[in-house]
Amino acid sequence: MRRFENHGVLITGAGRGIGEAVARRLAAEGARVLVTDVDGERASRAAESIDGAASLVCDVGDRASVDAAVAYAVERFGSLDVLVNNAYSCSPDAPLFEDEPDDHWARDLDLTLTGAFRCARAALPHLVASGRGAIVSIGSVNGEQDFGNHAYSAAKAGLASLTRTLSGHAAPRGVRVNLVAPGTIHTETWRGREANLERAAPHYPAGRVGLPDDVASAVAFLASSDAGWITGVTLPVDGGILTANVGLRDALAAPPVSAER
Ligand SMILES: NC(=O)c1ccc[n+]([C@@H]2O[C@H](COP(=O)([O-])OP(=O)(O)OC[C@H]3O[C@@H](n4cnc5c(N)ncnc54)[C@H](O)[C@@H]3O)[C@@H](O)[C@H]2O)c1
Repeated sequence: MRRFENHGVLITGAGRGIGEAVARRLAAEGARVLVTDVDGERASRAAESIDGAASLVCDVGDRASVDAAVAYAVERFGSLDVLVNNAYSCSPDAPLFEDEPDDHWARDLDLTLTGAFRCARAALPHLVASGRGAIVSIGSVNGEQDFGNHAYSAAKAGLASLTRTLSGHAAPRGVRVNLVAPGTIHTETWRGREANLERAAPHYPAGRVGLPDDVASAVAFLASSDAGWITGVTLPVDGGILTANVGLRDALAAPPVSAER
C-alpha cells in the first residue's frame, strides 16, 4: 500500500524511537518526510536511511523554531499534508508529591502539550490548503489512568482535550485531528531499564510490551484516507491495558482461601 504518495509530512522528535518508526512507515508508503528533532545529529542520521526524507533541527519548545520547520516542509515538499506531534518531556516524579519542583511541571507541560499546540498552530493553514490534512499526536495511556509521572500524565490528558477541541474547529476546514495513546513501548528511552520492561510485560493482557511499529501502524491508519471520517478520537495502542486489569482479575478468580485450618 502507498497511501501517502506525494504527501508532505512533518514529524517532531523523530530522530529515534516511535517518531523514527513513524517516519519510516509513512515514507515506505510514499510520503516525503521531514524528520525533525531538537538533536540535529539524531535527525540527520535517521533521515539518511529513509527514502525521500530530509532532516531539520526543531525544538518544539520554541515558537520560531517550530514556525521555521513548518515553513521549510512546505517549501521543500510543496505541501504539508500530515503533522505528527511526537516530541515530549517526561520528568521523574519526586518521591513525595509535595516536593515536585515547578521546573519539572513547567517543562513537561511546555514540551508535551504546548509544543503540540505550537506545531498545530503553525501547520493548520497549510493542512487546510492541502485539502486532505491530518494531525496525529502521540499521547499515552498515562493521559487516561495513573501509571506515574504527574506532569507528563497531565500534559498527555491535555493533548487528548486539544485533539477534541481542535478536531471540531478543523473538521469544517477539511482537516482531521486524532490521538494515538500507546502503552509501554520498547524504545531507546528504556535503555538500562530493560528489567522494568520485563516486569511490565505480564501486566499487559497481550502478554508483551509494545514496539515502535505497533504505534507507527496506528499513526499511518489515522493519517490516511482509510480514516477519512474519523476525527477527534483517542486510539489506545496498548495491548489491552486500559481495558483489562489482569492482576485484579486473577486475584478475584483465585480459589478461595479457607478460613478453617
Ligand atoms: N516509549 C514509551 O514507553 C512510550 C509510551 C507511551 C507514549 N510514548 C510517547 O511516544 C512518543 C515518543 O516516545 P519515544 O519512546 O520514542 O521517545 P524517545 O525519548 O526515544 O525519543 C524522543 C525524541 O524526541 C526528541 N526531543 C526531546 N525534546 C525535544 C524537543 N524539545 N523538541 C523536539 N524534539 C525533542 C529527543 O531528542 C528524541 O530523539 C512520546 O510522545 C512519548 O510520550 C512513549
